[in-house]
Amino acid sequence: MELESSWLLHALYAFCFILVFIIIVSPRFALFLYLLLLKLWCNCEICDAYLNLSWAKSFDNLCDWYAHLLKHSPTKTIPIHVLGNIITANPENIKYMLKTRFDNYPKGKPFSLILGDFLGRGIFNVDGDMWRFQKNMASLELDRLSIRSNAFEIVRCEIEKRLLPLLVSFSGKEDGILDLQDVFRRFSFDSICQFSFGLDPKCLQLSLPMSEFAVAFDLASKFSAERAMAVSPLVWKIKRKLNIGSEKKMKEAIKIIDILAQEVMRQKRVKGFSTHKDLLSRFMRTVDDDTYLRDIVISFLLAGRDTVASALTSFFWLLAKHPEIGSAIQVEADRVLGPNQEPKSFEEIQQLHYLQAAVHESMRLYPPIQFDSKFCQQDDVLPDGTFVKRGTRVTYHPYAMGRMEEIWGPDCLEFKPERWLRDGVFFSENPFKYPIFQGGFRVCLGKDMALMEIKSVCLSLLQRFHFKLVFPCHSTPRFSPGLTSTFRDGLLVLVREKVTQLSHRNYMVHVD
Ligand code: HEM
Repeated sequence: MELESSWLLHALYAFCFILVFIIIVSPRFALFLYLLLLKLWCNCEICDAYLNLSWAKSFDNLCDWYAHLLKHSPTKTIPIHVLGNIITANPENIKYMLKTRFDNYPKGKPFSLILGDFLGRGIFNVDGDMWRFQKNMASLELDRLSIRSNAFEIVRCEIEKRLLPLLVSFSGKEDGILDLQDVFRRFSFDSICQFSFGLDPKCLQLSLPMSEFAVAFDLASKFSAERAMAVSPLVWKIKRKLNIGSEKKMKEAIKIIDILAQEVMRQKRVKGFSTHKDLLSRFMRTVDDDTYLRDIVISFLLAGRDTVASALTSFFWLLAKHPEIGSAIQVEADRVLGPNQEPKSFEEIQQLHYLQAAVHESMRLYPPIQFDSKFCQQDDVLPDGTFVKRGTRVTYHPYAMGRMEEIWGPDCLEFKPERWLRDGVFFSENPFKYPIFQGGFRVCLGKDMALMEIKSVCLSLLQRFHFKLVFPCHSTPRFSPGLTSTFRDGLLVLVREKVTQLSHRNYMVHVD
């Protein structure tokens, strides 16, 4: 008996040794083995296609495949068994998760773990009291009327002093290909830093300085998303423990991000935060834990940088394909603001209903956050009858929802701002039918600020430039994995300045 148990013990040791060896030497092979095991557990058609990646033969993006599956599901809800994930595009279910049973669908522990290294205890990654505290603090700041005019001034200044001179410098050059996605990221990064922290990183200067931080931020976002897409957390957790592969790279990226966050706090302390009215000053007056402050800084950067840049990228991609909509935006601006005039205040931009409709329509088709997940705390049944077992991840999918005939009618795939207008006046949709800014208790706190930013950039650029797509061949963009939607190949354009400019401003003199 003793002999038998020692033999078993040795076999177990040998098995563990081989497993660890395989994971270290070939993480891909380890993943393959793991997927093979899972395959034995579930080989329904959807799980099979997910594991074999056979969906990629027919679809450019995972989100397009999900949209296809959801479209054909009678309940507009599908399970992905191997991911322990239920995905829904049903507005009733979404209202139920985000509002009616908000308490049963928190972000949950699994997500805090997945995003914990990157976002820590920042607002996007916590529930309960910690979330309530950050939300209240942020709302106090973002709801103030004065903050609107301050944000408007920051954005105007960033456009006039940096964005326009940069585009002018590329204008008309045969080889002057510009990646608008990169430009928009720099723009929104400068804007959110000035707005939230009262500091200016100057990423959008004419020289387009390479930002080690921006690269690190993108990597951390990419690897976090890959963790969330993994069939099991086991693989990334082992890689993290052993500090190998993507987890090693993620750790390095996070180190760089930490340095930036520390620098932001150091500069804030030097400048003083007792009277300053930006978001970070408000937090620094109440919180004295630097790690917690770091998490807050990173979350607000994520909130304001990637989302706005993503919305601008897809909007300009759509406008390049639909020049008639760009013209209609300009006709409205000329009528409301005066020919070739810039908006002079936050409130003035609100009067542009067609522009508001076009921005909403663009995000309907290309939401900056394509899907968002919660974890079910107690067994539950969704309004469409889907049973949800405790611990299941439930994901709502705005990208798929924008492609649903049942929600948007037979012309749902068309870019049609008019669907948002009644007698020329913009009307908002039910947030559970259009959860681009989420809805219910955790609705986005920066919505107004984001819309102002997107519309200001759009007006200024359409007035002065033509953009020609360099690779117009793809009928749909291809996305890379990340927490916010990102064009895999950027948005490459040739820029040409328009000749007729009534209010030609001398913005070249403002270059930093
Ligand atoms: C087009 C741009 C934007 C989009 C599409 C967007 C979308 C969203 C979404 C979907 C959420 C929910 C995330 C979740 O809980 O998982 C969210 C939350 C949030 N957003 Fe935005 N956002 C945008 C811009 C901004 C900006 C510019 C700011 C800051 C000034 C901001 C601040 C926040 C904050 C603080 C939350 C957390 C709310 C909470 O958990 O209670 N957002 N946003």
